[in-house]
Amino acid sequence: MKKVIFRHSTSRQLLLSVAFLFSFSVFVQAQEQTAQDSPAPAEASQEAASGGSSLGDPGAGKELFNSLCAACHKPYSNSIGPALNGVTDRHDMDWIHEWVKNSAALIASGDSKANAVYNEWGQTAMPAFPQLNESDINNILAYVEQPKPEPKAASGGPAGEAGGQGAGGVSVNVILGILVFVLAILLVVLFLVNKTLRNFAAASGITIPEKPKSKPIHKAFVENQFLVLVSAVVVLLAVGYFAYGFFMQVGVDKGYQPIQPIHYSHRIHAGDNQIECKYCHSSARTSKTAGIPSLNVCMNCHKSISEVSPETATEEYSKEFYDKEIAKLYDATGWDPATRTYSGEEKPVKWVRIHNLPDFAYFNHSQHVSVAGVECQKCHGPIQEMEVVYQNAPLTMGWCVNCHRETNIRIEGNEYYEKVHEELSKKYGVEELTAAQMGGLECGKCHY
Ligand code: HEC
Ligand code: HEC
Ligand code: HEC
Ligand code: HEC
Ligand code: HEC
Ligand code: HEC
Repeated sequence: MKKVIFRHSTSRQLLLSVAFLFSFSVFVQAQEQTAQDSPAPAEASQEAASGGSSLGDPGAGKELFNSLCAACHKPYSNSIGPALNGVTDRHDMDWIHEWVKNSAALIASGDSKANAVYNEWGQTAMPAFPQLNESDINNILAYVEQPKPEPKAASGGPAGEAGGQGAGGVSVNVILGILVFVLAILLVVLFLVNKTLRNFAAASGITIPEKPKSKPIHKAFVENQFLVLVSAVVVLLAVGYFAYGFFMQVGVDKGYQPIQPIHYSHRIHAGDNQIECKYCHSSARTSKTAGIPSLNVCMNCHKSISEVSPETATEEYSKEFYDKEIAKLYDATGWDPATRTYSGEEKPVKWVRIHNLPDFAYFNHSQHVSVAGVECQKCHGPIQEMEVVYQNAPLTMGWCVNCHRETNIRIEGNEYYEKVHEELSKKYGVEELTAAQMGGLECGKCHY
């Protein structure tokens, strides 16, 4: 008889724990949503992953390629010269070596393949590279023959929830889901076993004594003061935890990724096409703000680039999509690509500002970019990989101050600093001074 009662209370406990798990998983999800501010762009370099090419060192090749060949070649799409990916299938190695060292000589020698390529590309002369030896060329080939990196789905920002969940690990939600599922099955099995046993008992004529009416669970709970105390503490802690989490992220817009009036991709411009940040954000070096380029700057190139090459399209964004975005630029500047004239009708593009400190904080780009020599990416993240820019750093006071504590100042070529440095490093007894020791923690430096 005892057993029967016991069994009942286990199934009730099971039911309770399932309910608890359900509510807990909802909570955890809610918490994750607020915590999921970091877009965590998978930075793991694809070159490193696919590195082990038999041709040579793709890392060294990339540098050579970018400095010597990138003006006319892109790895995966045609440019002034053909896309170089796949070139080792089209030609044998000796031919490529000869071609790169001196293509004009090869063409002049009457080589049929060389002449075919030359004619196909409108007889554009490719310069000779006598300075490259065979292993240099092999390194370049190793770089361009890497498989095309999969377009990184915009794994960022508030939109990219599905992609979240850090690299590799199984998602917490999946584990919780499985747990709930297993518990549900257990519950069903328990119920069935209970039923069968009862049937057996009935069949063999055993009468199961009626269970004495037990106290309703909530009453038992209220009467047990210890349980009440423990639950009260747990509830208070939980509320405190969530409230703290909520208030700490107020005003912190890490991961903020607004939709811009023109879908301008830093991945395509600063990444694939290697355009210098400062070509567009030219005032970052000399002034407080980095500035957003005016549309004239865009038109320097886009007078002649009215559509993207088919290889630029990704799974997510089609060529038509990109071409339409360039058309928006033409619309805004009043440029008519057919007649190649400006109509004079201009419509300003209202870019949505992403990084924005409150008015009471002072931040100066030139101090960091030119004086301290800090890379843009250190604060803004891998912009050159972002299809759409998002805020990479929290931009909180703690973030500024931590970096000032960790980063040494740069004294080379700065006479003023050399003197100050000598005095201060003696005072602190250190070789190198951090920005903090130079006064980077003084409230007045950052607050008006
Ligand atoms: C000034 C532009 C220019 C530069 C710089 C340049 N190339 Fe070329 N390359 C071309 C052109 C144009 C062609 C097409 C043939 C022609 O018209 O000469 C070509 C063709 C080639 C070919 C033959 C491709 C094929 O599919 O047949 C190879 C290989 C090649 N280039 C490698 C290189 C390498 C490696 C570098 C850097 C070290 C380089 N090129 C730098 C313009 C350039
Ligand atoms: C061809 C021009 C161009 C180049 C090159 C370029 N940018 Fe931009 N950048 C823009 C434009 C236009 C915007 C505004 C639209 C947007 O936010 O995407 C912008 C926005 C930004 C923003 C966000 C500004 C805000 O509102 O807070 C940052 C940060 C930024 N760029 C950094 C960089 C860095 C770092 C590089 C170099 C790796 C770079 N940019 C290269 C044109 C350029
Ligand atoms: C230094 C040359 C250069 C400058 C400056 C430049 N672009 Fe581009 N732009 C390109 C190239 C190259 C492509 C890609 C063509 C391809 O992939 O075939 C491109 C592609 C695009 C595209 C289609 C892909 C995408 O990003 O959505 C848009 C839209 C665009 N540019 C807008 C702009 C705007 C707006 C500016 C000014 C802030 C600008 N570009 C400045 C060279 C430039
Ligand atoms: C030490 C960190 C840091 C570095 C390095 C840095 N930025 Fe910024 N950037 C910021 C902060 C903070 C803001 C917000 C400034 C504000 O709201 O006053 C910002 C804002 C911007 C903006 C938008 C607003 C503006 O100032 O025009 C652009 C564009 C930008 N940065 C581009 C760049 C580029 C390009 C580089 C590299 C040459 C760079 N940043 C280097 C921290 C940095
Ligand atoms: C990536 C590291 C880094 C980050 C992040 C950073 N700083 Fe700095 N900051 C430096 C360094 C390094 C210096 C020293 C530059 C020098 O040599 O004068 C500096 C100097 C300064 C100075 C001048 C200090 C002085 O002694 O004159 C101010 C003001 C300043 N930073 C404000 C800020 C603010 C505001 C933020 C946050 C929005 C910020 N910094 C974020 C690295 C950083
Ligand atoms: C390196 C730059 C820097 C220094 C030094 C600095 N602050 Fe700040 N402070 C900031 C920035 C940036 C913010 C804005 C943070 C935000 O928007 O979340 C801020 C915000 C604040 C706030 C508003 C509360 C908050 O967190 O948003 C107060 C109060 C404050 N600072 C006080 C001080 C005092 C007091 C000192 C001197 C002990 C000081 N700060 C030194 C950069 C600095």
